[in-house]
Amino acid sequence: MPFQIALNFEDGVTRFIDCRPDETVAEASYKTRINIPLDCRDGACGTCKSLCESGSYDGGNYIDEALTEEEAELGYCLPCQMTPRSDLVLRIASTSAAAKTGAAAHSTTLVDIQRYSPSTVGFTLDVDNREALYFLPGQYVNITVPGTDQTRSYSFSSGPGRRLVSFLVRITEGGAMSGYLAERAQLGDRLEFTGPIGSFYLRDLARPALFLAGGTGLAPLLSMLERLAQSPDGPPVHLLYGVTADQDLVHLDTLEDYAKVIPGFTFDHCVAEPTSSTRNKGYVTSLIDLTTLHGGDCDVYLCGPPAMVEAVRGHIASLGVTPASFHYEKFTPHAVLTGASR
Ligand code: FES
Repeated sequence: MPFQIALNFEDGVTRFIDCRPDETVAEASYKTRINIPLDCRDGACGTCKSLCESGSYDGGNYIDEALTEEEAELGYCLPCQMTPRSDLVLRIASTSAAAKTGAAAHSTTLVDIQRYSPSTVGFTLDVDNREALYFLPGQYVNITVPGTDQTRSYSFSSGPGRRLVSFLVRITEGGAMSGYLAERAQLGDRLEFTGPIGSFYLRDLARPALFLAGGTGLAPLLSMLERLAQSPDGPPVHLLYGVTADQDLVHLDTLEDYAKVIPGFTFDHCVAEPTSSTRNKGYVTSLIDLTTLHGGDCDVYLCGPPAMVEAVRGHIASLGVTPASFHYEKFTPHAVLTGASR
């Protein structure tokens, strides 16, 4: 039975390959015509060096010049030598174009539109050949807006295990997808997307995690929670969800449901508008302290607009804390930028 290997390239494109336990990741990759960087193929040069972010493997034989003991301890590995012992997620040190691949294209049918509030809409797609679509919880796709040549980036709000895939959209005046969903969308419409893309995905949780969502930045975190609900006995996860106005608060019932099935999961929310009827008025930074950060021994996953990402980074720095890892995704109406720091 082959394992599934996610190859995440520098440009965020992720390709998935099958790899048997008796073949190297490089062999499986080339068999699929994905040319990850290789030179000696013998564990001597270090050209193929990658970072394994999830899963277990046999590192194979190599010399110290190709991969030092310290690097191996940090999770670096040599795909020309390694054989998988589980599914893996690898960060490949090249772009997808350099590896002669790119984001996969998928055709879909619109099967549901959920109008959660005047500001927020969800929609659900039935993907043709669903078995060919793999993604990591937290990743996004570029969807072509029907009737236009424009694409918009949306994170999956559903987990990778579901047959149908869902997304959240903030309705913006004059927005291409907003206009389509408000005026023209009909169930049965055909939509195309490419992906998955992005390095903002859930890693194996080795310590408590703090999830931070701004507005529809909740979507990728919902996908992560769906994954966590499948193996709920991990470290505690606390989610803080901040929005501008009461009408932007959606999926609180979904979060409550997750709090019932994931023992270590808790959440809180806040609304920036002073006239809000919620208990917490203000920004998510007002809910982040040394306790929520476990004194720094936590992994932070943050998805929101650029101003929120910068405000949170500044606030955490002002507390004198450096989280064990900090993964973020900034989104604007037209672009997504992912990043991470340790
Ligand atoms: Fe030389 Fe892998 S290609 S060490």
